[in-house]
Amino acid sequence: MSSASQSKGLQIREFYEKDCPLDVLDGKTAVFVGYGNQGRAQALNLRDTIESSKFSTPPKIVVANENDRYAAQAEKDGFGYTSDWAAAAAQADILFLLVPDHVQASLFKDKIAATLKKTCCIVVASGYNVYYGYLDVAPTNDIVMVAPRMIGAEVRSNFVGDSDLSCFVSVEQDSTGQAGDIALALCKGIGFTQKRVVKSTAYHETLLDLFNEQALWSSVLAMYRVGYLILKDMGLSDEELVHEMWLSKEPAKVMEHMADDGFIGQLRLHSLVSQYGQLSGSLELDTTQMRQVFQQKADRIKNGTFAEEFKKLEQGGAGVQHTVNELRKQTEQWDLVKGEHKVRDHLGLKTL
Ligand SMILES: NC(=O)c1ccc[n+]([C@@H]2O[C@H](COP(=O)([O-])OP(=O)(O)OC[C@H]3O[C@@H](n4cnc5c(N)ncnc54)[C@H](O)[C@@H]3O)[C@@H](O)[C@H]2O)c1
Repeated sequence: MSSASQSKGLQIREFYEKDCPLDVLDGKTAVFVGYGNQGRAQALNLRDTIESSKFSTPPKIVVANENDRYAAQAEKDGFGYTSDWAAAAAQADILFLLVPDHVQASLFKDKIAATLKKTCCIVVASGYNVYYGYLDVAPTNDIVMVAPRMIGAEVRSNFVGDSDLSCFVSVEQDSTGQAGDIALALCKGIGFTQKRVVKSTAYHETLLDLFNEQALWSSVLAMYRVGYLILKDMGLSDEELVHEMWLSKEPAKVMEHMADDGFIGQLRLHSLVSQYGQLSGSLELDTTQMRQVFQQKADRIKNGTFAEEFKKLEQGGAGVQHTVNELRKQTEQWDLVKGEHKVRDHLGLKTL
């Protein structure tokens, strides 16, 4: 696991527009390895910022991608693309690694590392490969993390509209002495300083991200499954359940109010019956076992057990996608999923 998580170049905990001058990007070539969810949004935002800012030599953006539908999108967006990884790496002063986490390490090792400039700054959007030490980066290179707290589509739509964008930033390896300045300039260039940039580390970002997924969100899925079963047994229709539990978007709105009005504060927007039910219910719940289970999950993330298990899936022949498909297939047996299919089909709503 990475021990280089001390952010040398970042002296404060939060950064805004004024803290992030763009001039360090002058004359530099930024190569986007990957033009998917984050790659496309970040490249478009950065290009807009470059075009609307003053540089003596404006930074150049290059997209490196396999010849696939993402490459076609890069062409459509006016970037063009190259599948010559070695040539792209050779010209990069800044290299964004924006392919899925589980392919980053091998792509970097096999196709990028050999021709990379010694002083290139490598930018990751999640701490995963850095924290687990999977990225084999030369000690002369810089490594920074610019990790959006938002899905790619929103990184773009927020940039062109009202922005709610924020991100975590860290310096993981600073060989040139410029890593912190580059990281902050990229935060501004991509649009994250419109709200707030928070100093973090690859370790913290990885723990937070994976814990949210494996402990919090997995519990939400399981809780909904059980809640659905109980109420279905008590005579409620699929239409009533699906509408109330998520299709109405009431839960999504409640979460928005948690951000806007406070996690507990937003309860004042609910009736007193609701406030009493939610507060007394959560306070009387015995969370001892939950805490033990969640702690085990956090420990497995911290000590790398989960990451190694995941790596084995990728190396195990059929790959991660196959395993995820199998797990999805199991959820087809849930009453909640069967009920939802019925309701969505009836309403003509598509399901991803
Ligand atoms: N998806 C998000 O909303 C989100 C949010 C925050 C951070 N991140 C981080 O951003 C990074 C990129 O994630 P993403 O969701 O944008 O990725 P993605 O799944 O959208 O990536 C697709 C891109 O990766 C390329 N690609 C896929 N497999 C490849 C392979 N084997 N070899 C070469 N290229 C390959 C595709 O050509 C395409 O350009 C990850 O580190 C992720 O953790 C993602």
